[in-house]
Amino acid sequence: MSIEKAAQILKRARYPLFLSGAGISAESGIPTFRGKEGLWREHRAEATGGRESRAATMASMRAEDLATPEAFQRDPALVWQWYNWRKRLISEKKPNPAHFAIRDIAHKLPNLLCATQNVDGFHALAGLEGVLEMHGNIFRTRCLGCSDVRENRGEIDPETLCVACNQAALRPDVVWFGEALPQNILHTIYERLHVCDAIIVVGTSGSVYPAAGFAVEVRRREGYVIEINIDETHRPYANDVYIRAKAGEALPQICALI
Ligand code: OAD
Repeated sequence: MSIEKAAQILKRARYPLFLSGAGISAESGIPTFRGKEGLWREHRAEATGGRESRAATMASMRAEDLATPEAFQRDPALVWQWYNWRKRLISEKKPNPAHFAIRDIAHKLPNLLCATQNVDGFHALAGLEGVLEMHGNIFRTRCLGCSDVRENRGEIDPETLCVACNQAALRPDVVWFGEALPQNILHTIYERLHVCDAIIVVGTSGSVYPAAGFAVEVRRREGYVIEINIDETHRPYANDVYIRAKAGEALPQICALI
């Protein structure tokens, strides 16, 4: 029933918006940030190995403690260790039926604007064109000196110098806590939010702004909010359509009805 309603709303929407979070990649085998198998826990177990002092430090850490400019300034090797581990993990996995379904939905609804908080690049890998990667992409580096950005799929040694200027070190080209999101991406999303009559939010806990505010804004303007999430304790943004199901199961069904 709610699947049908979701399909109907999306089909009728003039300015629809899609937003995904870590939950959409969970079925690919990528741990989410705040679930039971949260990222920091995995990292602690796998990457810190026998180094007791570092393991002890990691025990009290969350993603928010590693994904910050301060953490990088304090200990770039530790932060790169975390990102190298995540890059390795993502490289071994692939997009799942949810990523392919949203690609197909976008083909059926050419006016659908797609944004993601994920840095894994899976939407693009699944063939979704023009997706706005709000938090950057883990497979790119940015020079701390000249700001040169380039694709860099391999592991990064924290000592590596930028190939463009040969003077400064590299950081992941992702948005860290406390940093501004890319201006052009935000601008495009807010332009859509001003007219948006339906948003579909998939696999996000809604704990990180500005993304957490998008559905609230659409609702405030009396647009529809469709949400897909497996969490029984999750408080939906609105009661329009709340689908408690795995993204990889719900999205293909919605797609089939559009
Ligand atoms: P979270 O880990 O906070 O939330 C993931 C959500 O996905 C949870 O609400 C889960 O219930 C849900 N979920 C898990 N598996 C699912 C499935 N198969 N189908 C549907 N839903 C599922 O991830 P985000 O909300 O994306 O930012 O986190 C937002 C930001 O916080 C991230 O982009 C990252 C993080 O720290 C930065 O690094 C700046």
